[in-house]
Amino acid sequence: MELLGIDVGGTGIKGAPVNLETGELVHERYRLPTPDAARPEEVAQTIKEVVEHFKWQGPAGVGFPAAVQKGIVRTAANIHKSWIGTDAAALFTQVTGCPMYVVNDADAAGLAEMAFGAGRGQAGVVIMITVGTGIGTALFVDGILVPNTELGHIEIRGKDAESRSSDAARQRKELSWEEWAGKLSEHLKRLENLFWPDLYIIGGGVSKSHEKFFPYLKLRTPVVVAQLLNQAGIVGAALYAKSKL
Ligand code: BGC
Repeated sequence: MELLGIDVGGTGIKGAPVNLETGELVHERYRLPTPDAARPEEVAQTIKEVVEHFKWQGPAGVGFPAAVQKGIVRTAANIHKSWIGTDAAALFTQVTGCPMYVVNDADAAGLAEMAFGAGRGQAGVVIMITVGTGIGTALFVDGILVPNTELGHIEIRGKDAESRSSDAARQRKELSWEEWAGKLSEHLKRLENLFWPDLYIIGGGVSKSHEKFFPYLKLRTPVVVAQLLNQAGIVGAALYAKSKL
């Protein structure tokens, strides 16, 4: 079975048809820049262009950087505030003419890693963390997703943890890898004391530089790097759509 997966990110909106038996992209992914203000209507138009690029007709999944309940966007940490309360699934379905299923982007990446990547066959508690513009989390218990965990936004030292340990924070504050890894460690240590995970999977944009900061992570939980790299969001969005058919 093949379904279209789309990943809405802070800088790019990417998509590709996915083979759901193998987790491989069937065509080269197509990427368009995320519109500047990234309001609902503009993002929907960009998604429509991705759909048209592949001449796609049929169901599709969309990974979206917010908590999403039954297609409705509930939070807006790094996106336009007018998303809150928007039925993204209905909007994308109406604009593209294809049935669209919308899932949190980190949950999508986690679904892909659990099915085809670093989390394959992992029982127990697994936390996937995507580190990029924001920090996304996906919590799995014996392979079952607990959706919308939003553990990037716990409070650390009086601040939203994401504002200290995201890759955007590393770049903004011009931190060395070691300095930044200290902040990420503090965040992950807090989570390990609360959830006692058996495994951490680290993905998102920063995962391609994992060799630069993994040695500085001081944690009792085993940590592995995501295997699907920047394809996880696309693959997971397609998997999510399949689960809804
Ligand atoms: C959002 C999450 C999202 C993460 C990664 C956070 O700011 O609150 O919903 O998964 O960024 O995009």
